[in-house]
Amino acid sequence: MVENGAKEIAAKTPEEALSLDTDETSSSRFGTDLIIKLHILMKVSQIYDQRNVALDQVVQGALELINHFLESEGSLALKVIRDGMFINGKRLKVGVDSYIGFKFVLEQLQKKRVGEIRICGVLDERMLKESIYHLMNLSDGDEDNARKLHDELNRLGIKSIAFEPLEIFEEDEFFVGETDPREAGKRVFFETIGVIKGVVTGINKKQFIDARKLKRMVQGAVNLMVKDESILLGLTTIKNYDEYTFNHCVNVAVYSLAIGRRLGFSKKILAELGITALLHDIGKAKIPKEIINKPDKLDDDEWRLIREHPLTGVEMMLKIKQLGEMSPKMVIGVFEHHLNCDLTGYPKLIRKKDLTLFGRIIKIADCYDAMTTPRVYRNKTYRPEQALAIMVRAKNEFDPILLKVFIGIMGIYPIGSLVLLDTNEMGVVYETNPDPQYINRPKVILISQSEGRRRIGPAVDLAEMDGETKHYERNIAKALDPKKYHVNIVEHFL
Ligand SMILES: [Fe+2]
Ligand SMILES: [Fe+2]
Repeated sequence: MVENGAKEIAAKTPEEALSLDTDETSSSRFGTDLIIKLHILMKVSQIYDQRNVALDQVVQGALELINHFLESEGSLALKVIRDGMFINGKRLKVGVDSYIGFKFVLEQLQKKRVGEIRICGVLDERMLKESIYHLMNLSDGDEDNARKLHDELNRLGIKSIAFEPLEIFEEDEFFVGETDPREAGKRVFFETIGVIKGVVTGINKKQFIDARKLKRMVQGAVNLMVKDESILLGLTTIKNYDEYTFNHCVNVAVYSLAIGRRLGFSKKILAELGITALLHDIGKAKIPKEIINKPDKLDDDEWRLIREHPLTGVEMMLKIKQLGEMSPKMVIGVFEHHLNCDLTGYPKLIRKKDLTLFGRIIKIADCYDAMTTPRVYRNKTYRPEQALAIMVRAKNEFDPILLKVFIGIMGIYPIGSLVLLDTNEMGVVYETNPDPQYINRPKVILISQSEGRRRIGPAVDLAEMDGETKHYERNIAKALDPKKYHVNIVEHFL
């Protein structure tokens, strides 16, 4: 029908050839029918067991359609490329009747990381059922799925149907199958924590380090950051005590990327900055955990070990081969992250040279995250706005211009702050106002109290004015301590 269509039309009478049943319409009709049938099959397979009779009719309908197509075409390939589907190389057109099915089938294949289904021989009931059930039972996001499916069906003696992995285009990897950028943000954030954990554990066990994943994660984070910085910034309010080291690396990368973005870095430079920030503390992998988490004062030897971690980090970074050609600024960035702007700090420098941009950016991101995260060895954790105020006062430590940029991103009341409003409501800051003139007017999620019950939401923009009085509807009176008011900040970002 797709390739032989011309021959068929030639055999028709002139009237028939001029009718709507052209090559184009019959092949797209087949595509629509196939997608509708696949959609139903996939749905039904999620509800019923393989032996359920409810399935028989659906399976029969699909088989008739597929086998009929195979008779004339010899083979059938359904391929996913980005957000499109192709049958034997022809793009499937989406009509009103197939839209829901199209979206469902596409999303399922993307989630399962299956990019192509190829049928090259007549199918029977068992083959089709096994294929669909095995496909739908695959776990989401596993890039090895197509191979697993292929092996499994081969084991069952089913050789006329084959699967190929989904082709991932780097720039949209983290939007595959996900229309909600908040969901994509969470996935990037948590998966990156997992990947950095894998890198550090691998180093400790002297295993092979696969840094390609790390690169892909950073590319995903960069794409998200360019689209909407507030999503990842909101997630940095997660201060995971158990996974502190890994959580910290990801938070530092997010803050660094936000600064780099404001400085107008290209995506390529942002990716380099992101990787550097993620790996800034990699040297700590060599320090015993008891020292890192020691609640008491460190002795001289322990301090010496801690002070070595930027240099150890550089050595380790150079050993991770898949990072590819590494630009010197990445390595230097790791080396410099505990040096202050006046070149005090550690490691001690023999030749004094100004710090690089990467080093200065990561320094700010690192200190801010460390100050706002509870640690075993420090009783005091600072609230976001307190940490920024302390950083402003520590004159020689931070690059003053970059610090200004950072405050511009975070606002006077940074994302994740709890504030008291003059309406007697509380608010969780979830997005800062991009206009520097309204730096004290972020968007907040309201928390109000009435009749002893707490109500969450809606989200309001503090820059909004009352239409009649031309006064701001709400103003921030002061920042509050979330612990005192039993507000779990992070739940507003998940
Ligand atoms: Fe460090
Ligand atoms: Fe750090």
